[in-house]
Amino acid sequence: MHERTLLPSAGKSLSHCNFPGAHTIGKARCSTFSSRFLSPGSSGGPDVNMDFVQSLQQLCSGTSDSTTTVAHLDLVTPATFDNQYYVNLVSGEGLLPSDQVLVVEDDSTREIVESYAEDPLLFFEDFKNSMIKMGALGPLTGDSGEIRMNCRAVN
Ligand code: HEM
Repeated sequence: MHERTLLPSAGKSLSHCNFPGAHTIGKARCSTFSSRFLSPGSSGGPDVNMDFVQSLQQLCSGTSDSTTTVAHLDLVTPATFDNQYYVNLVSGEGLLPSDQVLVVEDDSTREIVESYAEDPLLFFEDFKNSMIKMGALGPLTGDSGEIRMNCRAVN
């Protein structure tokens, strides 16, 4: 079993890194990733993949409505649940800024991304364990918390 539950120094859960691996399937609207080409350095770091960024710009500039045009979150194997998402991050081809930043801001996070890119079974094992853990969380109700109507804001 590979799960390492906490990264104590940063106080971050490992799930910070393996949950977004769900972005190996599904799509996102231009409006959610336009900052990848509007300010490439902010999430792409110094080694930004300009070919990839330009292809996103080309896709999104062809539309007047950035909330209807979509791109695959994993452009290489969009319909397969695999570790390709992490391979994409390492080569600068993560779609969402919140994905690409996982290899830019913090060395320990980047190392985890690289380990998932190299070892699909490690990713599957950690993802499975995080899903089980999240599924066991009880919602906080009453005075303890609330279930948000809109996940971006308190009710
Ligand atoms: C770091 C936390 C996360 C952030 C910031 C994030 C952000 C996003 C964004 C912006 C989109 C595109 C939505 C749109 O264009 O309307 C998206 C799509 C998606 N996310 Fe996440 N996400 C996160 C974690 C997760 C987790 C934990 C899962 C599942 C375990 C997940 C699964 C998905 C899937 C499957 C889609 C595609 C939906 C579709 O095609 O309709 N994400 N996410």
